[in-house]
Amino acid sequence: MTDTQPTPDGVLRLINGYWATGVLGAAAAHSLFTHLENGADTAAQLATRAGISERGAQTLLDGLIGVGLIELHQGRYRNTSEAATYLVEGKPASLSSFAQLKLKHMGSLTALPEVVRAGGPMTDPTTEVADNPHWEEVVPAIAAQSVPAATVAAEVLSLAEAGEVSILDVGGGSGIYSAIWLETNPAARATQLDWEPINAIARRLLDERGLGDRFTCVDGDFHSSDFGTAKYDVALYSHIAHQEGPEGNIEVFTRLRDCLKPGGALVVCDYVVDDDRGGPAFPLIFASEMLLKSQQGGTWRQSEYRDWLRKAGFEEVSFHSAPPATLVVAR
Ligand SMILES: C[S@@+](CC[C@H](N)C(=O)[O-])C[C@H]1O[C@@H](n2cnc3c(N)ncnc32)[C@H](O)[C@@H]1O
Repeated sequence: MTDTQPTPDGVLRLINGYWATGVLGAAAAHSLFTHLENGADTAAQLATRAGISERGAQTLLDGLIGVGLIELHQGRYRNTSEAATYLVEGKPASLSSFAQLKLKHMGSLTALPEVVRAGGPMTDPTTEVADNPHWEEVVPAIAAQSVPAATVAAEVLSLAEAGEVSILDVGGGSGIYSAIWLETNPAARATQLDWEPINAIARRLLDERGLGDRFTCVDGDFHSSDFGTAKYDVALYSHIAHQEGPEGNIEVFTRLRDCLKPGGALVVCDYVVDDDRGGPAFPLIFASEMLLKSQQGGTWRQSEYRDWLRKAGFEEVSFHSAPPATLVVAR
């Protein structure tokens, strides 16, 4: 045997990857990271605070040590700094509800072998069902992930110094971009176009943050809604391009070009793949999610965005990293 002989460890870790989703989702469901942060540090204390069995609490703690999210010091447990930042409820970057949502979605992956054979979803594609209740669960759970991208985009657009700008957010979901951008620029106004129940979620967030008077919602389908002409300084299309096919994206980009004032900017945020399809890992793997959930969607390459945006009438296109997403800025 040589040093280069592979071991099965990596493959076994991947085969059993669902254990991590399960342990993390269950721990989040019972607020274990939050209880740990608030001082409960033994299985017995966590069981009492979470209202679960001590055997269950110990099993979750063992699993969380195994996946590297908590640490053990002299018989007492505590969150790693990663878990303290991203898994404690109520923190701005908390992914706790997203961890629970992904555990719920895990079963849908068993359809992947059939979906791959057929080339698309076997049931109604999630993204093409009008007003799908799916979004009411997804949108609050993914909001925290847009915080870094919204912050990078505000810097790229120099929004803080931009004065009285008007913003259109297509498929704005939780309204997190509008919230961050209106906080960055007190003279800015934002309009979100989304389904009615989703706009109600965004309205709550903007009102809670005292920004509701500069925020307007338009209920409807972005495929058929009129975006207007030369109306906005900035348009945003975040995590939508991956649910659409090439023709759908060119069509929306063309109408977004028309709705921008001269010199206005379109920001597309999505998981963008290198032109040779060699990376990055996250966008490459995320393509499976779109095969499962959409008829035409996928993760698109930089060259595809350049091509579609030029066809839509944009002259300048630049790419800005906001891991695991990329911002595509077109003018
Ligand atoms: C993946 S979420 C992205 C939310 C937000 N832009 C973000 O980046 O956090 C997709 C959003 O698009 C909305 N959406 C999907 N298809 C739509 C359509 N045809 N018309 C209007 N909104 C739609 C969903 O309701 C949801 O809010």
